[in-house]
Amino acid sequence: MTHASLYRQSLEQPEVFWREQARAIPWYAFPETILSRNEAGLYRWYADGVLNTSYLALDHHVEEGRGDQLALIYDSPVTGTVEQFTYRELRDAVSRFAGLLRRQGLEKGDRVVIYMPMIPQTVIAMLACARLGAVHSVVFGGFAAHELAIRINDAKPRLLLTASAGKEVNRIIDYMQIVDHALAEAQHQPERVIVYQRPIRKVALREGRDLDWEALLAEAPPAEPVPVKATDPLYVLYTSGTTGQPKGIVRDNGGHAVALKFSMKYVYDVQPGDVYWAASDVGWVVGHSYIVYGPLIHGCTTVLYEGKPVKTPDPGAFWRVIQEYGVKTFFTAPTAFRAIRKEDPDGALLGKYDTSSLRYLFLAGERCDVSTLDWCRQLLQVPVIDHWWQTESGWPMLANMAGIELLPVKPGSAAKPVCGFDIQILDPKGEPVPAGTEGAVAVRLPLPPGCLPTLWGDPVRFIASYLSQFPGYYFSGDGGYKDEDGYVFITGRIDDIINVAGHRLSTAEMEEVVAAHPAVAECAVIGIYDELKGQIPVGLVVVKGGQQPDDRQLEREIVQAVRDTVGPVASFKRVIRVERLPKTRSGKILRKIIRAIADGRAYQMPSTIEDQTVLPELEQVLHPPPPSDT
Ligand code: COA
Ligand code: AMP
Repeated sequence: MTHASLYRQSLEQPEVFWREQARAIPWYAFPETILSRNEAGLYRWYADGVLNTSYLALDHHVEEGRGDQLALIYDSPVTGTVEQFTYRELRDAVSRFAGLLRRQGLEKGDRVVIYMPMIPQTVIAMLACARLGAVHSVVFGGFAAHELAIRINDAKPRLLLTASAGKEVNRIIDYMQIVDHALAEAQHQPERVIVYQRPIRKVALREGRDLDWEALLAEAPPAEPVPVKATDPLYVLYTSGTTGQPKGIVRDNGGHAVALKFSMKYVYDVQPGDVYWAASDVGWVVGHSYIVYGPLIHGCTTVLYEGKPVKTPDPGAFWRVIQEYGVKTFFTAPTAFRAIRKEDPDGALLGKYDTSSLRYLFLAGERCDVSTLDWCRQLLQVPVIDHWWQTESGWPMLANMAGIELLPVKPGSAAKPVCGFDIQILDPKGEPVPAGTEGAVAVRLPLPPGCLPTLWGDPVRFIASYLSQFPGYYFSGDGGYKDEDGYVFITGRIDDIINVAGHRLSTAEMEEVVAAHPAVAECAVIGIYDELKGQIPVGLVVVKGGQQPDDRQLEREIVQAVRDTVGPVASFKRVIRVERLPKTRSGKILRKIIRAIADGRAYQMPSTIEDQTVLPELEQVLHPPPPSDT
């Protein structure tokens, strides 16, 4: 079988193709209807299929004889802890926690917000929600209280699950304080907060609101998986959009399970029993798909790593984990390797470990620069596979599908479309452009199983954000081009989303915070190139007439405000004061032009610009000439 033949089959006969793939997972009722449309005309997969995701990920493997195989290895250099769960142990833990949730009155369709660090209890909580058909919404720990509050208001959870603390290298993160602030801000209040007390720090619980995780668990009965429809939601994961309101990406149960199972075999080339490690965070889509669901649905051993590539304790941390657990397939973001390379440029620490179990390194989450790709290839001597996807897709859209055939690597390209994704590069009118021409990266509908069917509670925004720009296509928000061989090169976002150390962030969200500073008249937040993190945000501010704030003080205040409101993960550390910003005659800030100037790219002068003389000024501020020697 070749990539070309399997890919062609997936596009020419999608229903036949995805019916066949659906056979790889156990259903309570195998779907008769493979692809259909709902009342709103939106595509859905396996409408009459019935299954349970926690059953597929756990019970099924125990029944198939994998009960004693390791399902989850928790490795936490920040707390000096290692904990391992076999499939049987993980199933039992999930079943008991599901019993706990049921005792709290949780039912199918109810939402649960999970704001927790990288500990096994987080994975158990996600799978326990899946077991009951409840919908989890995990919020990344690096977001501040305001971001948590926005998500609570939108998801309207009955329960909030949290932990007493997180640990970032040496710093303890006070989750409870963030939860308290978020609940003070949120209009919606969950009925209960269930708190896992970590040994690294115990906290006082609030009477009437908080319940102790372990105490409840001690009395909880096990709960059996609840059959759900394939189209029932498994989770909602919020991701940055182009406004201050994040988008609630909905994932269904059936399409998700089939797509992840397919990807484990055909994209990542892993077999049940293999050790698969995605060094990401469960708060991101990579964590959902490839720390939790993908590896477990496929019967692999997954690694949950609470640490960093460097400083926990050194840049050999990844090699240690690969050696210790015999990791076969490793997945992380290029920024992690840039961090290692900065501290250990020759990769000397690799020599201390036996990493011969490693077969592949997969990279995603941001553009992979050629120099990092080359460094990884030379160091590890295994195929290094750049692949492209998004929270929305839930699984890779472009990849070198290692489980079918390894195509020659073209540095800078995430290779070719994955089965099911008819990827086209479009001009502004929605017409496919010739090879070599840059345009908007779009996917012809229907999207394959596993991709978002809608946005939580907002189908209108779903259509407006993704389907209306180019009728008949899903618009990814990225720009790129195809070469003559069909390889796709992603050049970056063409909207106001930026990517900081593999974390997707909205500049609009940060702008709201910057603009709220009393001295700021107007502002723009843009992403600029950063050697380590790929991009970092910078705020350009114009101060109000009559105000003469000290620049350093202004920067400190704004940086703190973004940290307190959006979160430390934004890595917002720089504010530049400017006299004016380029605007249209109707007063709209020309962010695209600012971004182009910051990146040193050519741009077209818009006819609507109010005053062109602002552009050289901006050029001067963003690219000051080097100081002269004299
Ligand atoms: N809870 C609380 N705070 C968090 C957090 C969490 N879960 N995750 C990150 N933060 C904080 C960090 O402590 C840091 O705070 P600081 O400004 O006080 O130092 C800030 O958010 C930025 O974190 P991070 O982006 O992780 O940067 P870093 O400088 O600590 O480390 C890297 C840089 C490259 C080592 C790190 O970004 C990394 O390992 N990236 C891997 C990429 C990845 O996981 N991508 C996910 C998609 S695949
Ligand atoms: P997220 O939704 O957080 O996974 O972020 C998705 C965005 O990250 C994409 O829209 C891209 O802009 C970027 N991205 C992810 N993977 C890649 C990649 N391999 N190459 C280039 N950009 C990528």
